[in-house]
Amino acid sequence: MDFKNKVVLVTGGSCGIGAEIAIQFSKQSAKVVIVGRNEEKLMKVAEQCEAHGEAHAVKADLTNDLEVERVVEETIKRFGQIDVLINNAGIVKNTKIEEGISDYDKIFNTNLRSVYLLTSLAVPYLIKTKGNIINISSGTSKKIFPTMTVYCMSKAAMDMFTKGLAVELAPSVRANSINPGPVKTDLWVHAGVEGGETLMDMYGAATLLGKCTACKEIADMALYLASDKANSITGSSFVIDNGILLK
Ligand SMILES: NC(=O)c1ccc[n+]([C@@H]2O[C@H](COP(=O)([O-])OP(=O)(O)OC[C@H]3O[C@@H](n4cnc5c(N)ncnc54)[C@H](OP(=O)(O)O)[C@@H]3O)[C@@H](O)[C@H]2O)c1
Repeated sequence: MDFKNKVVLVTGGSCGIGAEIAIQFSKQSAKVVIVGRNEEKLMKVAEQCEAHGEAHAVKADLTNDLEVERVVEETIKRFGQIDVLINNAGIVKNTKIEEGISDYDKIFNTNLRSVYLLTSLAVPYLIKTKGNIINISSGTSKKIFPTMTVYCMSKAAMDMFTKGLAVELAPSVRANSINPGPVKTDLWVHAGVEGGETLMDMYGAATLLGKCTACKEIADMALYLASDKANSITGSSFVIDNGILLK
């Protein structure tokens, strides 16, 4: 798949799934913009992308509206267009209804509000390029997992957002989601959960196929969905979960 002269904006590109997506798009000649708060990690990923082509790192906290605006401004200043927007940045947290609203705000501000704002600012540019949007949702949008009610809610809302985008932006812009099951990243470590390093392996072992998905597999799916090969696909969600939703 060739993404020569295409500009791909990936949020949460400093590690995990987003970093792999950025690297794989670079390998297919895309110009990539990666966004995250951790500058050191961002620069390391940017270097890996630059081995293949142009890359631009934007240090930004997506829960801050002004910083979200700067992400689009910097992208346009550096590359002049946006062809693919990949809303990947996200957080997970164990929540309990008795514990009040603050975790809800944290999760929704990162996983949904920032996604809505960034997408709204990117859409005029995506319309110009007849581009497309990929939302990194989750299998948890389709099934409640214990202690993860708010996270599941945020991803279920993201799936409905994806469908809404597909309807609103057709025929110019396509929008789809990827809904992974357990992927081997530090998502739970970043959530500050004790034993977070091994939690994903435990979830992986509990799938039908008994394993986690590799970040590269998610990146491959993103490459396909963003490419002309997926020209007939919009408003769809693609589960890649080793069958965990069937358990
Ligand atoms: N791993 C899984 O099993 C799995 C399964 C289903 C769905 N997902 C989804 O996949 C996406 C990527 O997760 P991951 O597993 O790769 O986890 P990860 O390694 O923790 O990566 C999360 C990314 O989001 C960025 N991020 C978080 N909050 C941010 C903020 N306020 N502003 C800017 N960037 C922010 C982080 O960057 P900084 O720390 O540099 O800010 C990081 O690059 C998430 O949306 C997650 O919900 C993951």
